[in-house]
Amino acid sequence: MRYDESIIEQVREANDIVSVVGQYVKLEKKGANYFGLCPFHNEKTGSFSVNPKLQIYYCFGCNKGGNVISFIMEYENASFPEALKILADRAHISLPAADTYEDPAEKKKRERMLAIYKDAAYFYHDSLYTPDGSQGLKYLMEKRRLSKATITHFGLGYSGKFSDGIYQYLKHAKGYSDNDLKESGLISFSEKGPKCMFWNRVMFPIMDLNNRVIGFGGRVMGDGEPKYLNSHESLIFNKSNVLYGLNFAKKSREKFLLLCEGYMDVISLHQAGFTNAVASLGTAFTDSHARLLKRYTDTVILTQDSDAAGVRARMRSFPILHGAGLKVKVLDMGPYKDPDEFIKANGPDAYRECIDKARNAFLYNMDMLKQEYDLTDPAKVTDLYRRIARELTVFTDKIERDNYVKAVSREQNIDYDSLHELTEREILNSQGMSRTVMPMQPAAPAPKESESERRKTSGRAGRSEDILLYWMSERKEVIPGICAYLKPEDFSTPLKRKIAQQLMTSSDFCAAAFLDREDLNEEEQSEAGRIFAGTPVTTDDDDLYKILTEAVRNILKEIYDGILHERNVSAEKFQETLLKKSGLQNIRITQ
Ligand code: CTP
Ligand code: MN
Repeated sequence: MRYDESIIEQVREANDIVSVVGQYVKLEKKGANYFGLCPFHNEKTGSFSVNPKLQIYYCFGCNKGGNVISFIMEYENASFPEALKILADRAHISLPAADTYEDPAEKKKRERMLAIYKDAAYFYHDSLYTPDGSQGLKYLMEKRRLSKATITHFGLGYSGKFSDGIYQYLKHAKGYSDNDLKESGLISFSEKGPKCMFWNRVMFPIMDLNNRVIGFGGRVMGDGEPKYLNSHESLIFNKSNVLYGLNFAKKSREKFLLLCEGYMDVISLHQAGFTNAVASLGTAFTDSHARLLKRYTDTVILTQDSDAAGVRARMRSFPILHGAGLKVKVLDMGPYKDPDEFIKANGPDAYRECIDKARNAFLYNMDMLKQEYDLTDPAKVTDLYRRIARELTVFTDKIERDNYVKAVSREQNIDYDSLHELTEREILNSQGMSRTVMPMQPAAPAPKESESERRKTSGRAGRSEDILLYWMSERKEVIPGICAYLKPEDFSTPLKRKIAQQLMTSSDFCAAAFLDREDLNEEEQSEAGRIFAGTPVTTDDDDLYKILTEAVRNILKEIYDGILHERNVSAEKFQETLLKKSGLQNIRITQ
């Protein structure tokens, strides 16, 4: 799927970043830039900046940055084409017809897949009312106590015992080819002939936000294994972007969404009137899920299972949800396993009472954590304090963090000063380790760049590089002076080399356009945003050239020192470098 560069540029230029971001974030002008509360992480002091001149944003708190298109992608959880469409509509620009940018073959395939899934869903649903499917209907109505209206609303169905029913239907009544059916994943072929993925199960169609069926879950009607069989990921089905029930829940008028674990929980809750329930379908809860929720609500109430796995799921989802800027509460279902069982046993009113009593999720998690430690052993007590301190680092905002330190020390009977100190120490430790602090997550993945691509820099030379790149993007006239001493290769990271390359070789560099480059990963995009956002330290030209001179010297000095410390540097090169180093003081960048 590709749009022409010029149309992307047209859309970007027609959407001023300040006014677009201003629709989502309250911005205040400070100097040349605008500041506000970052929409991508939870904070109380505005570290989110928007630069109208460069048309970019950058958050000094969470390091997210980009241009107006990436802002919409991030905020609306949209793909590039979706974000472009939103912005084009906003500026009354009509984009070329979809066919001209989506690979037509791919589009056709996707449409065919959706058609197959839709037809299959109807087939499974209608089967409930055939003799073969009567046991499926019986299971859903009697065993699971679902009404016909609920069954219809969720499009529930039954996959026949005579497994090739659906194959015959899709092939002969609907005319799909064997190849199409194979690609759909619903049918496989062997020497013995076609074989259906789902067989003798009650069927739960999984729908996207536009109510299109994109996959199925199928449950055995007794105790067989696996209990649920789910569609594999495909062109139309990406598990980390789907929340079961969100197509309905997004229309509920509640101020919060209920997050549970399974198909049956969502369906039971909706049937009981809680049409704001969604589930992550037993898969890991991801950042995309959290952003998806944030599109529709500010508060999530966790109502995952009360078994050990459910408790772990709550623990893990907290930092992800909090990181997306959501308020998180936990609902206590007492001895009942899941919302489905709770509602069956106690009815909707009792569940509503639980909602009203839902507790702050972090404080709840700390209670759970405490139960894992034997507090008669002083060593374990210390471990617990450390662990709590580590969990507290999820709050990157200092004031918020301290409020939690106070609350936890009060609730758990821990000395405030000790916990405060431990927490701040953990914060310092973690700052060196990873960009975003996600303490309940596994360790951050190793950086993608290899050592050879990234030259080691001291903080000083690194900062000097930032300063040069910033001013070259801000004031074109300084570029020739810097080019006299530095080449793009002299910068220490692949990203900085790319920026320098473009600044030094093209006459019309555009920071906002640079951020759309396909060869940048998400981290590099944010890093570039950080560099372009800069921190202009001067408005005085004399000072500026002094600063640039100093920066060029710092970078060259580090490069020369690197050579001088090389183990097998030749005597000739050593001499030459030594000479260059002694000449550094003569370097002067001028107007
Ligand atoms: N799940 C799955 N595969 C399994 C078990 C579970 O995909 N073998 C997913 C399903 O999406 C399921 C969710 O994890 O809905 C929660 O699992 P569980 O609590 O075991 O199922 P329930 O939803 O409670 O289903 P039921 O009430 O029918 O037992
Ligand atoms: Mn259940």
